[in-house]
Amino acid sequence: MEYLMFSFVFACWMKFGNSVLSIHTPHAPAPIPKENLLVLTVATEETDGFLRFMQSANYFNYTVKVLGMGEAWKGGDVGHSIGGGQKIRLLKEEMKALAEQQDLIVLTVDSYDLIFAGGPEEILRKFQQTNHKVLFAAEGLIWPDKQLADMYPSVRRGKRYLNSGGIIGYAPYIHKIVSQWNLHDNDDDQLFYTKIYVDPLQRETLNMTLDHKCQIFQNLNGAVDEMLLKFGTDRVRVRNTVYDSLPVIVHGNGNTKMYLNYLANYVPNAWNYEHGCSHCDDNAVDLSQLKEYPSVMVGVFIEQPTPFLPEFFQRLSALDYPKDKLRFFVHNNEVYHEKHIQRFWEENRNLFNSFKVVGPEENLSQGEARNMGMDVCRKDTTCDYYFSIDSDVMLTNRQTLKLLIEQNRKIIGPLVTRHGKLWSNFWGALSLDGYYARSEDYVDIVQRKRMGVWNIPYMAHVYLVKGSALRNDLKERNIFVLEKLDPDMALCRNAREVTSHREKDSPSPESFHMLKPPKGVFMYITNRHDFGRLISTANYNISHYNNDLWQIFENPLDWREKYIHQNYTQIFTENYLEEPCPDVFWFPVFSEKACDELVEEMEHYGSWSGGKHEDSRIAGGYETVPTDDIHMKQISFDKEWLHFIREFISPVTLKVFSGYYTKGYAVMNFVVKYTPGRQAFLKPHHDTSTFTINIALNNKDRDFQGGGCRFNRYNCSIESPRKGWSFMHPGRLTHLHEGLPTTNGTRYIAVSFIDP
Ligand SMILES: *[C@@H]1O[C@H](CO)[C@@H](O)[C@H](O)[C@H]1NC(C)=O
Ligand SMILES: *[C@@H]1O[C@H](CO)[C@@H](O)[C@H](O)[C@H]1NC(C)=O
Ligand SMILES: *[C@@H]1O[C@H](CO)[C@@H](O)[C@H](O)[C@H]1NC(C)=O
Ligand SMILES: *[C@@H]1O[C@H](CO)[C@@H](O)[C@H](O)[C@H]1NC(C)=O
Ligand SMILES: *[C@@H]1O[C@H](CO)[C@@H](O)[C@H](O)[C@H]1NC(C)=O
Ligand SMILES: *[C@@H]1O[C@H](CO)[C@@H](O)[C@H](O)[C@H]1NC(C)=O
Ligand SMILES: *[C@@H]1O[C@H](CO)[C@@H](O)[C@H](O)[C@H]1NC(C)=O
Repeated sequence: MEYLMFSFVFACWMKFGNSVLSIHTPHAPAPIPKENLLVLTVATEETDGFLRFMQSANYFNYTVKVLGMGEAWKGGDVGHSIGGGQKIRLLKEEMKALAEQQDLIVLTVDSYDLIFAGGPEEILRKFQQTNHKVLFAAEGLIWPDKQLADMYPSVRRGKRYLNSGGIIGYAPYIHKIVSQWNLHDNDDDQLFYTKIYVDPLQRETLNMTLDHKCQIFQNLNGAVDEMLLKFGTDRVRVRNTVYDSLPVIVHGNGNTKMYLNYLANYVPNAWNYEHGCSHCDDNAVDLSQLKEYPSVMVGVFIEQPTPFLPEFFQRLSALDYPKDKLRFFVHNNEVYHEKHIQRFWEENRNLFNSFKVVGPEENLSQGEARNMGMDVCRKDTTCDYYFSIDSDVMLTNRQTLKLLIEQNRKIIGPLVTRHGKLWSNFWGALSLDGYYARSEDYVDIVQRKRMGVWNIPYMAHVYLVKGSALRNDLKERNIFVLEKLDPDMALCRNAREVTSHREKDSPSPESFHMLKPPKGVFMYITNRHDFGRLISTANYNISHYNNDLWQIFENPLDWREKYIHQNYTQIFTENYLEEPCPDVFWFPVFSEKACDELVEEMEHYGSWSGGKHEDSRIAGGYETVPTDDIHMKQISFDKEWLHFIREFISPVTLKVFSGYYTKGYAVMNFVVKYTPGRQAFLKPHHDTSTFTINIALNNKDRDFQGGGCRFNRYNCSIESPRKGWSFMHPGRLTHLHEGLPTTNGTRYIAVSFIDP
């Protein structure tokens, strides 16, 4: 609804903008032909920001001339202090040749942190309406000399101070301004322009003014709260809500680089509601066209005990990518996980190109370990990509690596989210102190309502970095260690390298345009596909034997995938169950792993009851029909077990005993062991339950002989129990039953007396 309204407003503006204004100026001069506009910009390197600038300029068919490309930057460290004189020196040289061209309009802009939101005709029309020869961008914050504030003409409404990141004017006039330059490359350009502007005489003779109400130039510094994205059918613009203007040039000056990155995810035509992402496949590589797949170094980081680690490794090795093109660097910080890595290595050692593990004995900090992994790729020129993945990332999409490589970006991560939560591996915005802030589009991106490739300020857990970027922009080897930041934050900050190293107490962020190329590597997150999820490592208690069994609350999806029978859902969709005896239902519920791990867990615990009548574990201390068993409670598994009953048994009960709603409550939950040397069978009995489940935990003929269950009233026996399958039958009155003798080996079953 909201966006429909926007697009309506936008359409009206598009349609009537011109005519409305021309009504007010009946003697309007003829429009300036767009061929008369020349854009000049100074850039010494093709940074990501520069390429984005050129992309927006080309989209609107601006004629752009780039000055200084390849030249060493001498304009000072403008991110930190004043500087930028080199820009004027280059402009001065250029303008000498253009000084005589009376009709030429020169637009000089920064390019590393600036984009076009509209075309040349619109700029020229708006410039013409100002009825001045030279127009500077304006902003609300004064820089670099606050003393000059009083010399500025006062304005009733609008931004009062000059910003030199954008200037438009007639060539002879621009020439007259820049020809006054006789300072050094590292002197301040904005101060130079400011001094000329605040001189009343020059202001009049050079016919200069400022774009106070952001008709053409929008400096974002100090104005972020004024901005709104405005979606049209083909284009997206920003609206300045204070002046109700649609600026044509958007400049992420000062501390607003990341905000500009956010806007540029949409403006001018990067993404909209109708067409989605329009630049996602720019520069994409087609892997199928390559003679050879790129070689990838996979950095695996196990920094804390992590549930489902064997499954994590399984998914990594299942990636659809030539194994001989993969090398592994594993940092494992947990002794507990050494057995899992060992097993993975033994099963895969011949598959991969190489496999290096740095274990807990090295006592590396996370930052050191991540530096080390990345550096292995950096130093090896045959390493085309570095794919860093933390152990809590479950990549369910086997194409992930290929899809990321095909996007052809310096740094790109796949979106992964915590199942059913808004928690993910990226931040759409940063707060002033550099931590999480929610961007307007964060939820839509996480929920994949907006799909695309997004330039974002922070990501973690899983990302792909080009080897070439590691050897150039990111050649700093200590990239994961910065002040007290956590390693991923250090990486992102080093990659972005925002300008601000300003003092904490400086009230106004420097209103400076950034010219010296920062590393400014754009980081992207793609949500064009479903890649996988983040699991929770919180509350992972590793004091048990098979600890993942306890993860039913914390990571329910992974628990289900690991422990619930593959065909469980078919019970409901395809009536996949049997009734071998009257009212005895038989259905698959546990996976092989669930059965094996539960048996292992019980054997590891080891205190079998011995099948005695005296039983201190139960109320009254006496069991009439004792089994040789261990209660779930004894291994602290009772809460998890009851949850399993409610989640996976109750739905079956509802299906087969329709009209009966189980409370899913049970006191007696245990694993029974039948073996000839101890207890081999159980005499006929009733259970203290409304209904009972009885899950076979191992295989007849492989693990034991004999066994089974007999329901006496129906003269009906089931002699071939199936591993992972459960019986469900009424506990009392009709279903007197007995455990048939196990004649060899050991038989295990899990039993619950439900709704006693
Ligand atoms: C830019 O020029 C091309 C080729 O002349 C044209 O197809 C396109 O519509 C122009 N774009 C704009 C935004 O005017
Ligand atoms: C500035 O230039 C415009 C034409 O571009 C002219 O109409 C106007 O009078 C000039 N203003 C001054 C103060 O010279
Ligand atoms: C591991 O490193 C930390 C921090 O560097 C240090 O405090 C600790 O003593 C080290 N432990 C061992 C066992 O070397
Ligand atoms: C982990 O489980 C053990 C055994 O159930 C228990 O004694 C311990 O308190 C648990 N630890 C935590 C941190 O929950
Ligand atoms: C699930 O059912 C299919 C046939 O419907 C069967 O081929 C497959 O083996 C079953 N899976 C398991 C784990 O038993
Ligand atoms: C029980 O069934 C068996 C075989 O299924 C049969 O031989 C026997 O006669 C039956 N007993 C009764 C009491 O029906
Ligand atoms: C009992 O089981 C063991 C292995 O589980 C097997 O070697 C042996 O042959 C079995 N004995 C009989 C009588 O089936």
